[in-house]
Amino acid sequence: MITIVSGTNRPESNTLKVAKYYQEAFLGKGQEANILNLTDLPSALITSDLYGKRSPEFQKMQDQVTATTKFVFIIPEYNGSFPGVLKTFIDACSFPESFYDKKACLVGISSGKYGNIRGIDHFGGVCSYLHLHVLPLRLHIPAIKTELDESGAFYKEDTLKFTGQQIDKFIAY
Ligand SMILES: Cc1cc2nc3c(=O)[nH]c(=O)nc-3n(C[C@H](O)[C@H](O)[C@H](O)COP(=O)(O)O)c2cc1C
Repeated sequence: MITIVSGTNRPESNTLKVAKYYQEAFLGKGQEANILNLTDLPSALITSDLYGKRSPEFQKMQDQVTATTKFVFIIPEYNGSFPGVLKTFIDACSFPESFYDKKACLVGISSGKYGNIRGIDHFGGVCSYLHLHVLPLRLHIPAIKTELDESGAFYKEDTLKFTGQQIDKFIAY
């Protein structure tokens, strides 16, 4: 099963729009993918689900992680890296079995110029530690506000080309 992790809990994020775009694009290639939206994290996560604790609310997300073999992470740039809530989510998941020897595809987005190059590098380090195998083609999409149309979809020719290529490679990975 493929799961697309929308890597922030910010309401109305561009990250979720990109996650939905990827979900549709996978479907267009005959591949179902679910979204795991970090806005669904328990609001008490840091007291209810870390260091051996587990709430029924988070257990549902853990079950989705456990059933997943391939993860697509859509990761916004927050203060030059990936969001802290994404790391807290990873820390709350069962270790090591949640991600061990599974596969990941990384997409960085930002409102600035760099498309979260550093955050994707930082997150790649976490993936290495987890033995989560990352598709070599990582995408960095800067100036995200200029990339999405009114329906929240990519429309620029090169973005369609590179996201399509990444999805094809990840299906085959
Ligand atoms: C806490 C926070 C920190 C941010 N830091 C950066 C940054 O370092 N560089 C940048 O280009 N954009 C930064 N942004 C803007 C996001 O990249 C922008 O909101 C973009 O739409 C992706 O985030 P979103 O999914 O929350 O919309 C930041 C946004 C937030 C909320």
